[in-house]
Amino acid sequence: MAIYVDEKRKLFTLETEHSAYQMIVDRYGYLIHLHYGGRLAGGDCEGLNAAGYMDFSPAPDAAGTYREYSLDLQYQEYPSAGAGDYRSPCLAATLAGGGRNLDLCYASHRVLPEKPALQGLPALHGDCETLEITLKDRYTDLEVVLLYSLFPEYDAIARSARVVNRTGGAVELDAALSACLDLPDGRGLDLIHFWGRHTMERMVDRTPLTHGKISVDSVRGASSHQHNPFVILCDHMATEDAGRCWGASLLYSGNFTACAEMDQSQSCRLTMGIHPAGFRWRLEDGEEFQTPEAALCFSPEGLGGLSRRYHRLYRRRLCRGEWALKQRPVLINNWEATYFDFDDDKLVQIARQASQLGVEMLVMDDGWFGSRYDDNRALGDWVVNTEKLRGGAARLCRRINELGMKAGIWFEPEMVSEDSDLYRAHPDWCLQVPGRGRSRGRNQLVLDMSRQEVRDCVHDMIYKVLSSANFSYVKWDMNRHLTDVWSAALPADRQGELYHRFILGVYDLLERLTGEFPHILFEGCSGGGGRFDAGMLYYTPQIWCSDDTDAIERLEIQYGTSFGYPVSAVGSHVSACPNHQTGRTVPFHTRGVVAMSGTFGYELDLTKITEEEKEQVKAQVKQYHKQYALINDGDYYRLTDPAKEDLTAWEFAAEDGSRALLNIVYSHVRSNCPPCVLYLRGLTPGARYRMTDDGGRVLGEYTGAALMNGGFRAPRARTGYPAGAVDYAAFQFQLERV
Ligand code: GLA
Repeated sequence: MAIYVDEKRKLFTLETEHSAYQMIVDRYGYLIHLHYGGRLAGGDCEGLNAAGYMDFSPAPDAAGTYREYSLDLQYQEYPSAGAGDYRSPCLAATLAGGGRNLDLCYASHRVLPEKPALQGLPALHGDCETLEITLKDRYTDLEVVLLYSLFPEYDAIARSARVVNRTGGAVELDAALSACLDLPDGRGLDLIHFWGRHTMERMVDRTPLTHGKISVDSVRGASSHQHNPFVILCDHMATEDAGRCWGASLLYSGNFTACAEMDQSQSCRLTMGIHPAGFRWRLEDGEEFQTPEAALCFSPEGLGGLSRRYHRLYRRRLCRGEWALKQRPVLINNWEATYFDFDDDKLVQIARQASQLGVEMLVMDDGWFGSRYDDNRALGDWVVNTEKLRGGAARLCRRINELGMKAGIWFEPEMVSEDSDLYRAHPDWCLQVPGRGRSRGRNQLVLDMSRQEVRDCVHDMIYKVLSSANFSYVKWDMNRHLTDVWSAALPADRQGELYHRFILGVYDLLERLTGEFPHILFEGCSGGGGRFDAGMLYYTPQIWCSDDTDAIERLEIQYGTSFGYPVSAVGSHVSACPNHQTGRTVPFHTRGVVAMSGTFGYELDLTKITEEEKEQVKAQVKQYHKQYALINDGDYYRLTDPAKEDLTAWEFAAEDGSRALLNIVYSHVRSNCPPCVLYLRGLTPGARYRMTDDGGRVLGEYTGAALMNGGFRAPRARTGYPAGAVDYAAFQFQLERV
């Protein structure tokens, strides 16, 4: 398992535990993709699946009068535009003089014993080898350095590209993507992607590839609720347990594209990176442009196998700092409990009740600063409102700490309200085009995060608050998308750099504050899960998954999220019923079972719940603590698809097979419904397991093989008859190896 280079043939093979990636330099100097998939047992694929010839696919100059070679048909590692490849390029540039065709050929390579840092960008980390291949334009000194870092035990490869301009003049980059994957036959493949909207993020869409392009993207300035920068290619027949699956996940939080294209020759090209729309980057002579990183992963064991690889990879090699693997506190957030209507006494009252029930942290959400009495004002004024918090933040934290609890706080650093002191002092600090109107979202404007002085000012305000009191947690929100993307700090011909510079600015501020406050747990958020991406997870190891806290809707949201992201990343809370988003009423127990499959917490006024519910909170916190390691470090198995079944079942199994937790929630209750049989996963076939239900009753002892192959019939949900209300029942079964 390593990087193998056949120096003579310029054949490069990257081997992980269950995958191989192979490429070769061909006779014209092009870097050709040979294989990505199952292992090759030391062999190679050269000549096995060579690209063919087709009319109207021109030959590059390097092939002279030989007609049967075209870049239009070759499987390539980093295709460029203008020299006969009409599919989606990774690199498009305008050279001095206006020429737009590039001819990127192999120049050199080296194997590094580590992973080079990507300046200012999130990246996978840890010990690993990196293959660096430099391509060079045949006619100028424009270079592209391709990076492939290998994570063998996760079957993952981190890819990115660095464009280096040594041409002697300026070059305009029109597109600079992170990775390309050319697979020889797209006809048997499906694309799975995750679409959505505010309060309904990461719905699963699975579609066969079609001739033409399927583009999944965002041009909103954030990765967005609407599409997630994570896609999967898989065999038509791929299931949770079987079939080839290729994942591509972008470590980036801004505009992105993931484009799957099937062309005239039926081959499939997947390209991924910064969306070229609205992007144009001027690279002066001697300058470099580093693309974000894409984490590719291959699973020969179906979609479940792919997800488990990403879960482990992202927990151990993406999330950083003290909180990456540390047990997260069970929190109570006051947003749905009070909205803007709170003061210090009210918060302490909630905290007191919460502490008595075992909750470990109170998070003070939006509304504690400036004149923030509603959501029309005060963003940007990160100064404690002492009418609401008498005695300031320090006193509030002290009072919460005295209850044995930690304290957390909410910020929305990238935004400004027109009605704010910050805006009045610096009306030119927001994104806006001079002489034109601005679009408002939630009545707020977006700060120009590309500017150092803007970041410094926001930083200083946040720094002051965080260092003035004993906060253990920060929720970092972002509640609108970008419009009017124009910066007073950039010349007219560099405005195309702003979307990317904005995100680099956000990353810079995150890097600074997470570095200055290493003990603080940062949670990402953007109107719920509108920036739930691998880029943010590098800075914030958990992200509020959705503003939809309805347990039944959360089943689908958390199901979709689980394809690419670990449970430890998924902020999930028990909220009040009738639910504030849907009006639905769901049993308290069910809300707990769903929220427990995430970074667990509460989001309701605990002083207003019944005594019986208080007992349930205590039991839930106890159960969460007991199962914490299994839920967060265990293997995650999706047993049913909530969009297709009346019940959703999922399981956590310890990597060593010693224990498991089976979760079942009914989302639809039918009369006289047929039984649902669940086949458990991840157990040791020959071992015996004791099975207990939520009430601690032992149901029996069974072998792992019996539970996995024989199946377990899910208990039936109770219908509303004769009581009336439909029961969204939930069950948890524990399995312990005896
Ligand atoms: C966003 C978040 C919510 C809450 C509000 C506060 O919508 O997703 O959890 O913090 O902002 O305004």
